[in-house]
Order: sequence, then structure tokens, then C-alpha cells
Amino acid sequence: MATSSRAIALICILGSLFMVTSAQRCLSHTFTSNRVFSSCADLPYLQAHLHWNYVPSTRKAEIAFRVSQASEGWIAWAINPTSTGMAGSQALVAFHNSNGSMTAYPTPITSYSPSMLPGALSFQVSNLSAEYIEDEMTIFAIVGPLDHATSLSHVWQAGSSVSSNIPNMHATSGEHLQSMGKLNFLSG
Ligand SMILES: *[C@@H]1O[C@H](CO)[C@@H](O)[C@H](O)[C@H]1NC(C)=O
Ligand SMILES: *[C@@H]1O[C@H](CO)[C@@H](O)[C@H](O)[C@H]1NC(C)=O
Repeated sequence: MATSSRAIALICILGSLFMVTSAQRCLSHTFTSNRVFSSCADLPYLQAHLHWNYVPSTRKAEIAFRVSQASEGWIAWAINPTSTGMAGSQALVAFHNSNGSMTAYPTPITSYSPSMLPGALSFQVSNLSAEYIEDEMTIFAIVGPLDHATSLSHVWQAGSSVSSNIPNMHATSGEHLQSMGKLNFLSG
């Protein structure tokens, strides 16, 4: 075996080890209250992770979206049914209410300066809740029926502050502008 092909073989092995390792990071996460998710993805930006159980017969997904976040910050996860990126996306947001408890609600992102007030989404949302444990904020919800669940555009975000129980604008640089992608609820 020539040195170069051995080197290529080694690179391939290391590459697949890396993929296995990164695929298992979110799978090893355990949730409180006996919640178990069969699939997950370590999202590439903002230290975010999405976990889900998708039921093809109902086209509903039970999701958990968790992000490393400071106590005074907020997190949001959204599906964009009509486009990519923020505008038009259908979001779930969570943060610490001023009374100290975690709050979560749906909010449609109708423009680049959305109200961030609670509102109905274009798909059903149920069992919505949030928690803050070990410097991580997590949103739990059941979403759907969903169209195109094998090729969804999703977008996620994290912001550093909340005023009067309304999330303030997130940073508009770096990972905050990259945090979107495609999602296949049937894979993984
Ligand atoms: C905090 O405020 C929210 C929204 O008004 C309310 O639903 C929740 O019950 C409150 N929690 C506590 C602990 O008072
Ligand atoms: C969703 O909420 C309903 C009503 O509270 C409950 O019966 C059901 O078990 C919940 N589903 C999940 C997956 O938590």
C-alpha cells in the first residue's frame, strides 16, 4: 500500500469517526421528566440543538430545541413554510418572564422588525413549554400537521435581553445571520 493511499484511508477513518462523534453529541443528552427523543441534530450555529419525534401518520413532530444561554436571554426556533430565513417564519420563543418563571409562546415573524408578541402560527402548536437548566434554555412543543416535513426550512435565534416581557433584537452579525438550514424530520 502506497503511503499516500494509506494517508487517504486514515483521513477517511478519522472523518467517519468525527461524524459519528458529532452525531452522538445531542443523542447523549438526557432530558428531565422522562422525555425521550429518537432523533436530533447539533445545529451548526449558536450552540443550539434540536431533538424530535416525528409521527408520519399525523405529520406532527414533538420537538425540543435547546441552546446554551444566559438567564436574561431568549431563544427562538422557527419553521419558514414559504421561504428561507427569518421573514415569514413561524416561531416559538422562550425566555424568563419578569416574575422569574420560564415562558414560551408562538409568534409569527411577519417582517424584519416583528412585534415578538404572542400570535397564532400557520400550523398548530400544542404542549408548549420551556425550562432553564444548567445554563441551557429549552423549548418543548408539538408542531403540526406539517407540510414538507422531509424538507423544511428552519431558522433559529438567540438574543441577549428581554424588556417588559418582550425579546429585544438579537445581534445582527456572525452566527446570528447564519442560523438557518434544511431539516428532514424523517431522517436521523
Ligand atoms: C408568571 O407570569 C406568567 C405570564 O403572566 C404566568 O402565566 C405565570 O403563571 C406566572 N408565574 C408565576 C410563578 O407567577
Ligand atoms: C400533550 O398534552 C396533552 C394534554 O395535556 C397530554 O395528554 C399529552 O400526553 C401531551 N403529549 C406529550 C407528547 O407530552
